Order: sequence, then structure tokens, then C-alpha cells
Amino acid sequence: MQAPQFEFLRDFLLRESGLVVEEHKMYLLRSRLQPLLREHGLKDLNELADAIRQRRNANLARAVVDAMTTNETLFFRDGYPFEALRERMLPDCMRHGGPVRIWSAAASTGQEAWSIAITAAEAMPGAASRVRILGTDISESALAKAREAAYTRMEVGRGMPPELLARYFDEDDRVWRVKPAIRGMVSFRHANLVAPTMPEEMRPHGPFDIVFCRNVLIYFDVDTRRNVVDNIARCMREGGWLVGGATEIPNGRRSRWEPEAFGNRNLWRLAARP
Ligand SMILES: C[S@@+](CC[C@H](N)C(=O)[O-])C[C@H]1O[C@@H](n2cnc3c(N)ncnc32)[C@H](O)[C@@H]1O
Repeated sequence: MQAPQFEFLRDFLLRESGLVVEEHKMYLLRSRLQPLLREHGLKDLNELADAIRQRRNANLARAVVDAMTTNETLFFRDGYPFEALRERMLPDCMRHGGPVRIWSAAASTGQEAWSIAITAAEAMPGAASRVRILGTDISESALAKAREAAYTRMEVGRGMPPELLARYFDEDDRVWRVKPAIRGMVSFRHANLVAPTMPEEMRPHGPFDIVFCRNVLIYFDVDTRRNVVDNIARCMREGGWLVGGATEIPNGRRSRWEPEAFGNRNLWRLAARP
């Protein structure tokens, strides 16, 4: 791939999705974008870069971002966030009265949002009417799968305990579909965490009591991570909770996020304005 086209694609992905692609990761561009070249009759990545630069096809630009996202996820990933939800965050939020609003901010194909809904249903009588969960992602294809709420045996085998599978999914021809009562707690919409308009787009859906933003900030540089968590704060109520991946929330900087230990992990709470 020629240097100017690589630089164009690298800058395009950084600007549009926050994804950092270093030069030694060029192989990632090749392997992820190969199917798109075939689909759009393009000879190579140089032609692809030129097509995006000349804005010949808006769908192509979206498809490139989509193809470059890593959608790896599973039910009840890492365990502790869902324990913390049950034992610490939900009991705290219940004290306020009114709806509990939870945002799964890089929801991928939905497993995190359904795990949150099932945890709430198990923990709280009346969760279905009181807890509202919004899953967002930049990838339209991941969101389409999340909205379908249907998973293969292999997918439910990754993290869904058998007793919860039996209680919260209907099986039809080896496809496991989330039951309507749980489906009614969750909705999905497109949102780009690095877009400058993100807080304005998300605020009407909040203010959120709890935000899960996990295994996505790792793809961004440190400044972008800081901007994203600051922007998330603008969509939350004071005292709200943020759950990040193990090392994802940038610290060492004055901000309104205060760590709160849960076992040997940290949750983050939004302090009141000084
Ligand atoms: C590895 S998955 C993590 C899914 C889930 N949070 C988990 O921990 O299992 C990362 C997700 O972040 C999404 N993503 C990447 N960049 C994004 C952005 N700028 N805005 C919103 N979502 C983004 C990807 O599409 C992908 O679905």
C-alpha cells in the first residue's frame, strides 16, 4: 500500500471512530478490508482510500469503519461488573426512586446489554418496568445482530449459565432468542463515542445512573479516552457509576471520576460539581 493512501486511511479511521492504526498494524487493514474490496469491485487498498477520499460512496466509508471494529464479546464478561451491578450499583440506584437508566456504551452484538438486563431481573422484583437499558455502538452490523436478540449454541455457550439460559431464552431450532420480558428492557441505537456531538445526542436518553464502557477505550489514544470519559460524565447524574475495562479509565488527572473499590477492582463514581 502506498504511504499517502495508508496515511489517509489511518487519519480517516482515527477521525471517524477513534481507532488508532499504527504502521506495523497495516496487515490488519489488509485482512479486515479484503472482503470489502471484492464486494465493491476495488483492486486494492489504494483504490479504496481514493474512493473514500473522493466521497464516491458514503456507504463504503461506513462499511470501512464497521469492518475495522473488533466486536468480540460474551455474556457476563469478566463476572465482577455484574456482581458489582447486583450488589453495589443497583441497590444504590434503587434508593432514588424513579427509573434506573443504564447505558452499555459499546454494546457490540448485545451480550453485555442482555447480561445487564438479566442481572437486574434476577436482583430486583419489578426490574422490567423500572430498569431501562440502552445499548449503543458504532457498528451497524453489530447493532443489527443485537436487535435480533438471537444467538447460536456457541454464542450462548460463551458465558450464559444454563439455568439463566433456560429462564430467559426461548429455543427454536437451535437458536436461542431472548424472551420478550427482557427484550422490553433494552433498546439499541447507533452512537459514535468519539463524535463531538455525542453528549448532545446521548443526553436526551439519560441522565444515566450506570454506564458500562468496556473493552473499547483500549483502541483509542489517551487523549481520546479522556475526552470520551469526560463526555460520558456529561450524560450522567451525579453519583452515577462507570464500569470500565481493567486498565481503560485514564487516571492521574483531575476529573470528576472517583475510584471506588469493589473487591480488587475499581468502579468509578461521578463526584458532585465542586
Ligand atoms: C470488543 S467490543 C466490546 C463489547 C462489550 N463492551 C464487551 O466488553 O464485551 C468493542 C465494541 O466497541 C465498538 N466501537 C469501536 N469504536 C467505537 C466508537 N468510536 N464508538 C462506539 N463504539 C465503538 C465496536 O464496534 C465494538 O462493538
